[in-house]
Amino acid sequence: MTHPYHPLGFTGSRLAQGYWRLAEWGMTDQELVRFIEQSIEAGITTVDHADIYGDYQCESLFGKALALKPSLRDQLQIITKCGITLPSQHRPEINCHRYDHSTQHIIDSVDASLKSLNVDSLDMLLLHRPSPLMDADHVFEAFEHLYTVGKVQHFGASNFTPQQFDLLQSRLDMPLMVNQVELSPLQLKHFEDGTLEHAQQHAITPMAWSPFAGGDLFRLEGINPTLHKALTDLAEAHGASLDQIAIAWLLRHPSGIVPVLGSGRIERVQSACAAQNIHLNDDEWFKVWIASTGHPVP
Ligand SMILES: NC(=O)c1ccc[n+]([C@@H]2O[C@H](COP(=O)([O-])OP(=O)(O)OC[C@H]3O[C@@H](n4cnc5c(N)ncnc54)[C@H](OP(=O)(O)O)[C@@H]3O)[C@@H](O)[C@H]2O)c1
Repeated sequence: MTHPYHPLGFTGSRLAQGYWRLAEWGMTDQELVRFIEQSIEAGITTVDHADIYGDYQCESLFGKALALKPSLRDQLQIITKCGITLPSQHRPEINCHRYDHSTQHIIDSVDASLKSLNVDSLDMLLLHRPSPLMDADHVFEAFEHLYTVGKVQHFGASNFTPQQFDLLQSRLDMPLMVNQVELSPLQLKHFEDGTLEHAQQHAITPMAWSPFAGGDLFRLEGINPTLHKALTDLAEAHGASLDQIAIAWLLRHPSGIVPVLGSGRIERVQSACAAQNIHLNDDEWFKVWIASTGHPVP
């Protein structure tokens, strides 16, 4: 069934590239253009931002690259987030690190993101975190306005429980299409708390932030030895690398998890993308699960 808000639905790439750490990468605008081009060549067209990333600077850095090569815009699906306020020299009007889901804040935040990113519209806007003060009717007012004036095509949430997601959805005319949550072989919480079942039931795309647990998966002090061994054994069996097994493990889940990569090194992005060719069977998937939980399944 077509929906008046989404006649064509939202189609992104199987993996997404996150730009939270962009300000740390120290790239020139030209180097960033090349990084985006090479990511696209590797199969990643969905990019993930937030207004607050890099003290409100990452969107602007990305926007400078798009200004240098405007043809990139049409090859990308741009996601950004709003709803967290951070005191910053770049936002002198903000006094408090808190959540703000008011109609005006959401609209103002999108206007600022469009300007920074140097684009006319966003493919997807996510509410970054749930707020105890969220009034879903106020969010709807903002979303409806942003859709009607053509500034945002699709909407979703991040770090929402199924109940928070349902509350917001209950007041919206447009379907929320994404819930972005932390998922990795080191972070199993949302595999067990109903988030992924809820996503499957309602055809919501789960996006996995920190799919390598922020790099802990590669640090011996960050990972239990049994899990490290399970991942390295599978890597050897598949002629693959540990990062690829971690991504293949997420991709194997029936909810259609989209891992959001965080590396600024193109060879690591390419390696993660190649994990799409690795199929883990159920025995292999559960080896990682059991090694991570530290006990057999009941
Ligand atoms: N919605 C939310 O609340 C939320 C929260 C956090 C993040 N996010 C999104 O998720 C994205 C990814 O998060 P993340 O950056 O934490 O992801 P991640 O991929 O789990 O961690 C990235 C870190 O791991 C390192 N790394 C990646 N591949 C590696 C490899 N093969 N070997 C050794 N180290 C490796 C990277 O270092 P190098 O750069 O040196 O490769 C980087 O420091 C963010 O950019 C953001 O878009 C969303």
